[in-house]
Amino acid sequence: MQVIIQPDTQSAVKLTAAVLADALRRNPEMTFGLATGATMEGVYAELVRMYREEKLDFSSAKTFNLDEYIGLPVEDKNSYRSYMDKHLFDHINIKKSNTHLPNGMTPDIPGEGSRYEAAIKAAGGLDLQLLGIGQDGHIGFNEPLSSLRSRTRDKLLAPQTLQQNSIYFDPPESMPRRAFTMGIGTILDARKIVMLVTGESKSDIIAQAIEGPVSSMVTASAIQFHNDATVILDQAAASKLKAQDYYHWCFENEPYWDKFR
Ligand code: GLP
Repeated sequence: MQVIIQPDTQSAVKLTAAVLADALRRNPEMTFGLATGATMEGVYAELVRMYREEKLDFSSAKTFNLDEYIGLPVEDKNSYRSYMDKHLFDHINIKKSNTHLPNGMTPDIPGEGSRYEAAIKAAGGLDLQLLGIGQDGHIGFNEPLSSLRSRTRDKLLAPQTLQQNSIYFDPPESMPRRAFTMGIGTILDARKIVMLVTGESKSDIIAQAIEGPVSSMVTASAIQFHNDATVILDQAAASKLKAQDYYHWCFENEPYWDKFR
């Protein structure tokens, strides 16, 4: 794992977008795994800017989102399909038919997970999975105690997640209590993982995920098993990490990062 600490949120967001853009320039047929949440809004805004100003080309790219609420029509402003259209897909030259999210309105809830897994497989697997982290340590909607080998399936959301995300719903109680999410096993199968975490409120949980034991109680800790995972943090999110000097030293001395410094 590589841990990169940037002085402020904007630099962490820009570095994350730069890593995604670099991957896309090297391989225009990239298959991205994408994430939602407030943290990612700046990343998508930066990718849109690069499309407009630097001709970053998404015409052959494919995307699979981590998760989607169950029972929320795609037109609902809180569906993750709406989020992705609003923040990214409507503003770049990606083919909508190449963008995928679990179908939150499917009549076949038990079958949706394997359908989504088959679609990812048919696309050749995920080249790069973008991740945030929830307040309870989840990635996607893999709540505490999710199996570290889990695949895409429907999941009951934890109270902390309902509290964190219900602010977007009016009334807050209308937030769905279940969602489809890629599993930890699905995420770990991605060839590369890039996690972005910003803000003081995430400092405790990200310290547990990076420096604590691997545990299904903090499902983000599973990325310790991945052989190409990069975690990009702002200073506020990194403030509880014990080995900050070591992470800075690795970033300064690893040639791969030369072009991003
Ligand atoms: C939701 C998503 C996660 C995301 C998390 C963090 O729970 N399912 O994929 O990481 O929100 O969101 P925020 O960036 O708003 O803190």
